Amino acid sequence: MVDIHCHILPGMDDGASDFKTAEQMLQTAAEDGIDTLICTPHYSPKAYRDCPRVLEKLAGSAKAAGIRLLPGMEYSFARLDAEIENLRPLGESSFVLIDLGVPNLPPSIEELFFLLGRNNMQIIIAHPERYLTEVESALELSRLGAFFQLNADSILGGNGPRCRRMAARLIRSGCCHYVASDAHGRHRTFRLSRCRAHLEQRCGKAYAGTIMDTNPERLLKNLPPVSLRPEENGNWLLRLLKGRRPQRKASV
Ligand SMILES: [Fe+2]
Repeated sequence: MVDIHCHILPGMDDGASDFKTAEQMLQTAAEDGIDTLICTPHYSPKAYRDCPRVLEKLAGSAKAAGIRLLPGMEYSFARLDAEIENLRPLGESSFVLIDLGVPNLPPSIEELFFLLGRNNMQIIIAHPERYLTEVESALELSRLGAFFQLNADSILGGNGPRCRRMAARLIRSGCCHYVASDAHGRHRTFRLSRCRAHLEQRCGKAYAGTIMDTNPERLLKNLPPVSLRPEENGNWLLRLLKGRRPQRKASV
C-alpha cells in the first residue's frame, strides 16, 4: 500500500523525534503492508529546505525495510506563505496536500484554487473530518476541484465520535478519495490494514480497493483519483441487477 501522508522525517516537525523513532516507524509501516511512504512534514522554511537531505539519509533504512520514500509536504492554509510556484507536491505529481484547519471555507479559498490551477496544480484536502462540520463545505470544495484524504484513525474512531461520524458522512457523500495514516511517531501510527478491513466490511471490496490501492497508485502516476460512493460498489450494483431491495445502508 501507499501512504500519502505521514510525518516520519525526523527533526522536521512534531512527527518522528529522531532517526531511531523514524526507523521504528518504518518497521511498523512495513508490518502494516505499506511499501511506499510519501513524507509530508508540516511546511516551514526549514522543513522545506532540509526535507530532501533527511529523506536521503533515511532512504537506506527504508530500503532495508522494503519501503520507498518519496518527498512531499503538508501545507497549512492559514500559513500558506510559500510561493505558489515553489509548493512541493506529493511525490512527482502535481497534487498538493493542504490542511484547511477551519470549519468554514475561508473567503480566499477560490483564489487559491485559481492560483494553483493556473500552475497546473491540484489540491488534496488533508483530513477534512477533523475540522469541517458540514458536508456541504466539502461538496463546495469538491465543486472547486478539491480531492479529499481522510485519516485512517478518524475512520476507525481513534479521534473520537465526532470525527468518526464526520468521516462516515464524507465517505457516504463521495468526499473521500484517499485514506492515509498521518502517522506522527510511535503513538500516532499506521493503521491502514485495519482501516482497509473496516472499509471492506462496511463499504465493499471494490470501494476499499479504490480508496486504498487504485487512487494512491494513480496519484504516483499523476492521475486524478476515481470518485466513488460506497453505494455504487459492486455489491450494490449486483443487488440492483438481481432486482433485490437494497439492504439498509451500511453504517461506515
Ligand atoms: Fe499531517
